[in-house]
Amino acid sequence: MLENLEQLKLKFNHELNLVETRDELEKIRVAFLGKKGLVTEELKNLRNLSGEDKKTAGMQVNKLKNEIEQAIVSYQTVIEEKEYQKEIESAECYDYSIPSENEAGTLHPITIVQRQIEDIFKTMGFIIEDGLEVQTEYNNFEAVNIPKNHPARDMQDTYYLENGQILKTHTSAAQNTIMRKYGAPKPGEPLKVLFPGRCFRNENIDASHENTFFQLEGMMIGDDISISNLIYFMKVLLSEVFKRDVKVRLRPGFFPFVEPGFELDINCAICGGDGCPTCKNSGWLELLPCGMIHPNVLRMGGIDPDRYTGFAFGLGLTRLAMMKYNIKDIRLFNSGNLKQLKQFTN
Ligand code: PHE
Repeated sequence: MLENLEQLKLKFNHELNLVETRDELEKIRVAFLGKKGLVTEELKNLRNLSGEDKKTAGMQVNKLKNEIEQAIVSYQTVIEEKEYQKEIESAECYDYSIPSENEAGTLHPITIVQRQIEDIFKTMGFIIEDGLEVQTEYNNFEAVNIPKNHPARDMQDTYYLENGQILKTHTSAAQNTIMRKYGAPKPGEPLKVLFPGRCFRNENIDASHENTFFQLEGMMIGDDISISNLIYFMKVLLSEVFKRDVKVRLRPGFFPFVEPGFELDINCAICGGDGCPTCKNSGWLELLPCGMIHPNVLRMGGIDPDRYTGFAFGLGLTRLAMMKYNIKDIRLFNSGNLKQLKQFTN
């Protein structure tokens, strides 16, 4: 009998060492201490003994039973710890210090330049307005002094919708709506508005022509607004964008909605004015058409031209972005080519 108990003890220790889970531990408990367990059987076997033998054997079996019970209880905590550890190892873990694979997007080069100019003008008290892309012929042409059959319409052929509306050919299409929205300026409070927008023209596309491009237009209307105001704001705009004091020159230019009208050229940044292929050897780059708002346009906008004057300019935003970033092909802007477009950061 004693030998048997010794073997049972060895067997138990051996099996306990192999246990990995709570279920396995429970199986061992049943196998040794359960109703038909090995130790329980030994207890039953005591029936066959008598006297002193029964007493010693009984003590031995109970001792083994206690040892096994103890061992199972203390092993329980070991197992729990093991299982917990396993759970941690298999759980999803997050390491916030690992660089993300998802790249943040970048701003389109046109958006960067647009925002930069908006910021400059906001500090000078300009309001930013949004114009419609689908416009009436009236707003796009008539309201800016380009009546039906005027030859200036030829230069701005565009896309006509079935309902007679058109895709706007220039940001000037918003002039009339804006004048009507804000009305005649109060004394000492000129109306100062900036309205960037997407424009469309029926163009044969090549490196410098697109059917979809961006302009940024500005208007200032009030008492005694003159060409000097116009030149001042244009110089601030250009020197902030190009980060240097730029030389400008005004040439006469014709646009039906301004009188007088100008083409504002800037001194070529590439050659410093000596002449190079970029400026076609003239030393000047044509950048900013502008002028004093035509009395007809003010009148159609509900503003008395005998009382108020104003200037307007129409900056080619796409063109400016090309110059600023030295982009040679206008088609890049609408290409969706992220590899190239994301290179522009400021
Ligand atoms: N709207 C003109 C164009 O697209 C530009 C312009 C705007 C000229 C304002 C003068 C004043 O060609």
